[in-house]
Amino acid sequence: MSISTRREMFERELQKLYHAEIEILDLHSDLAAAAASDEVRAIFDGHEADTVEQIDRIEAMFELLGLELRERGSPIMEGLLAEKDEFVAEVADGDLRDLDAISIGMINERLEITLLDRLVMLADELDLPNSIVEYLEANRDEAQTALGRMQQFLEERRSR
Ligand SMILES: [Fe+2]
Repeated sequence: MSISTRREMFERELQKLYHAEIEILDLHSDLAAAAASDEVRAIFDGHEADTVEQIDRIEAMFELLGLELRERGSPIMEGLLAEKDEFVAEVADGDLRDLDAISIGMINERLEITLLDRLVMLADELDLPNSIVEYLEANRDEAQTALGRMQQFLEERRSR
């Protein structure tokens, strides 16, 4: 299928984001399980409710736009899940497991932010309803907050 309009690109990216967020639910629970410390486990567990809400917002956007609810697989997401499996299987030491889990988590949040930046831009250019832009921005803000918590964990660790 070729994409020749912004609208088609927006729809494709929304389908990819939807797929990614559903995968992220599993990713987070695997990272929480792999974490060595309660602190890191809490970061991933704490973000789970946000992710469920983000999925709800994406479903609301499909409905608002009169689109069929559809997921589209993303090679980046598959790669990230494969990285997670490799990391989790390879690292035995507790302290290092936290670092691995946080790194995968940060790559994931940055990916979400990047996908959402493009969707916000396209939604603006397409003059989509304000509620669409607000949903996208709410999801992006939550990803930024989650990323911030992970960065803070690393900074605190460095200064210990
Ligand atoms: Fe997230």
